[in-house]
Amino acid sequence: MGNEIKEIAKKNAAREAVKLIRDGAVIGIGSGSTVEYAVKFLIERVKNEDLEVYAVPSSTQAYFLLVGSGIRIVTLDEYPELDLAIDGADEISDDLDMIKGGGAALTREKIVDAAAKKLIIVVDFTKRVKRLGERAPVPVEVLPFACGFVMKKLTEMGGKAALRLAQRKVGPIITDNGNFIIDVRFGTPIDDPKELETKINMIPGVVENGIFTNMADIVYVGYKDHVDILRKD
Ligand code: A5P
Repeated sequence: MGNEIKEIAKKNAAREAVKLIRDGAVIGIGSGSTVEYAVKFLIERVKNEDLEVYAVPSSTQAYFLLVGSGIRIVTLDEYPELDLAIDGADEISDDLDMIKGGGAALTREKIVDAAAKKLIIVVDFTKRVKRLGERAPVPVEVLPFACGFVMKKLTEMGGKAALRLAQRKVGPIITDNGNFIIDVRFGTPIDDPKELETKINMIPGVVENGIFTNMADIVYVGYKDHVDILRKD
């Protein structure tokens, strides 16, 4: 039952958020199960309202959701600035900072989200936290060559670092960029997300990390029977 309510909540957030998309828009498509619902609702709108929408996918998952859908796949080389991006999150705090990367797509997500004039986030109610790090680890994408070195540095920073292992494949997961993911837990909620985001990215061999500060503009939080809309002030 719990999971069923969560799925309804995700759908409610996704359905509401795609109403923002206008004819002719060039958008970024994030990754994850809530974004999957958003793409489904957008495809319905594109067909029913005869819209033209262009999209940059942030992952192989997003790419395959878009192929043959009626939404035109484009690149950041053609459109380095997007009208908006729609993405999910693993945790979102009261000041709209986020942890992302549960699906290992964080690097391209951060690029696509940063390219958007407005970043729209769709989450179910379970993703809201007072402070980041209450539940989710911080995913860090690393070059395979640097894995051991980066794990040591993250441990020295007080983190408990674990290489993310694949399911139904032996060994680590490989990202869309051919890299590994290290999940780090710092034991307590994160005091200063911006500082930690910057500090992790300073370690040589780190490609990107899943702390997204000061990026979200509008957040649709889905519940069983309503949607809360949070805005950056
Ligand atoms: C993908 O790497 C993530 O950043 C997703 O956006 C995040 O994990 C949210 O996914 P769900 O909507 O499936 O919870």
